[in-house]
Amino acid sequence: MAARNRLPPWHEQLRLANGREVLIRPIRPEDAGPLRAGFGLLHPEEIRQRFLYTMKELTPEMAERLTRPDPRREFALVAAEPLPPGEALVGAVARVAIGDDPREAEFAILVSHYIAGMGLGRHLMRRLVRWARGRKLERLYGDVLEHNQPMLALAESMGFRRMHTGTPGLVRVVLELGGEAQERNRSEAA
Ligand SMILES: CC(C)(COP(=O)(O)OP(=O)(O)OC[C@H]1O[C@@H](n2cnc3c(N)ncnc32)[C@H](O)[C@@H]1OP(=O)(O)O)[C@@H](O)C(=O)NCCC(=O)NCCS
Repeated sequence: MAARNRLPPWHEQLRLANGREVLIRPIRPEDAGPLRAGFGLLHPEEIRQRFLYTMKELTPEMAERLTRPDPRREFALVAAEPLPPGEALVGAVARVAIGDDPREAEFAILVSHYIAGMGLGRHLMRRLVRWARGRKLERLYGDVLEHNQPMLALAESMGFRRMHTGTPGLVRVVLELGGEAQERNRSEAA
């Protein structure tokens, strides 16, 4: 995966191992249409792993919510075709949201099978960590199905610890961002 060019903040143009060019950039309202269209191409299992339940379609309301993050507490990146938003197909979405506890944020990520296994998941997760750190948050967490080996392996390799959620079948992975843990993670998440 190779990065090129000078681009606006949070924008990166990458060439994946299979030669495909992708633009990493903040999500835009224009992505709602391509997101809904692309949803139908996902495997049911990918959807379940991301949303933790089965969904047949991404409703216009959900697409609207996803593509208009509240800048005070949310941030979302896409990996899209290097075309104007609205025209570009979107292959991955990674988002993070600060909830009721202002010291922590929850992440969620989906890298579609067309471009999975080429380092994008790790790259996007590192960007979410960077955002969380920039907001001076204490921790970043995500809820993952217990059999979701790829996500659990990725999280573990980035220093996330597993915790119980109280919900059978669901594991919470938590990355501490403060103090010593922050120093330790900084090099890994650069
Ligand atoms: C989990 C997911 C985000 C990984 O994205 P990806 O782009 O394929 O991941 P990467 O290529 O960056 O690989 C990163 C690490 O993930 C793990 N991983 C990826 N694919 C894997 C697989 N098929 N089996 C086991 N581990 C795997 C490995 O630890 C890998 O590190 P390595 O390459 O050093 O071995 C992606 O598979 C996905 O979106 N899954 C469906 C949705 C989901 O599970 N979301 C998470 C819950 S919010």
